[in-house]
Amino acid sequence: MESTKENPADELLALVRSLKAQIQSEIDAGKTPAYLCMTGEPAALDTSAADKSRAQSRTSPRKELTLGDVKKELGDCQRCSLGRVRTNIVFGEGNPKAEIVFVGEAPGGDEDIQGRPFVGRAGQLLTRIIAAMGLKRDDVYICNILKCRPPGNRNPRPEEIAACEPFLIKQLEAINPRVICALGTFAAHTLLKTDVPITVLRGKFHAYHGIQLMPTYHPAYLLRNPGAKKQVWEDVQKIMKALPQQVS
Ligand code: URA
Repeated sequence: MESTKENPADELLALVRSLKAQIQSEIDAGKTPAYLCMTGEPAALDTSAADKSRAQSRTSPRKELTLGDVKKELGDCQRCSLGRVRTNIVFGEGNPKAEIVFVGEAPGGDEDIQGRPFVGRAGQLLTRIIAAMGLKRDDVYICNILKCRPPGNRNPRPEEIAACEPFLIKQLEAINPRVICALGTFAAHTLLKTDVPITVLRGKFHAYHGIQLMPTYHPAYLLRNPGAKKQVWEDVQKIMKALPQQVS
């Protein structure tokens, strides 16, 4: 084997290569790479910084970013081509101080018409999941990666995500929740910047800027695959344990 002892740059390169190979072999073996994988237990993630900032944001006299500020900045958005074809912007709704934020993919037809997230069939199922957690829609915050409906509900495009994601990031910053629940592949991949399959990602907490993020299946997937509800219920129970008032 090539010696790298004399050259720190080569040594570093070898280290990076071996780390990359290790991560790739974990992905190939169907495992979540260790750097991505948190345990199912929320305590495993060090959220002390996020907790502190949450506490400060609720007491600090400093002007914090509000959802109103974000909405104002978004305005009558025409940053991508979806602006021309939408009926309404679906900004998101719920408790601006929610402990949990649900993030879906993009508005569908019903949401586009009403300007509200998750109000169609998948949304009704999400509302039932929230109720099963002992919560109401008003207790949580619900939003999407995209704020405008892609025509025919096609998948969001990279340039649309690039235009819209900064507003989601600011919404999450304004709310500063304890937990984010990423609904489906698209939300999980966009937030975690990974292509690891949702089957591997779900059921474990991942770190999103110091906030615990639980990926789970999208309610629309559950409508087509009711057998997966059991796994979503398991994921949701882990979320409930991570929330301050335990409901179970
Ligand atoms: N699916 C989503 O991802 N978001 C909605 O708001 C509705 C359906």
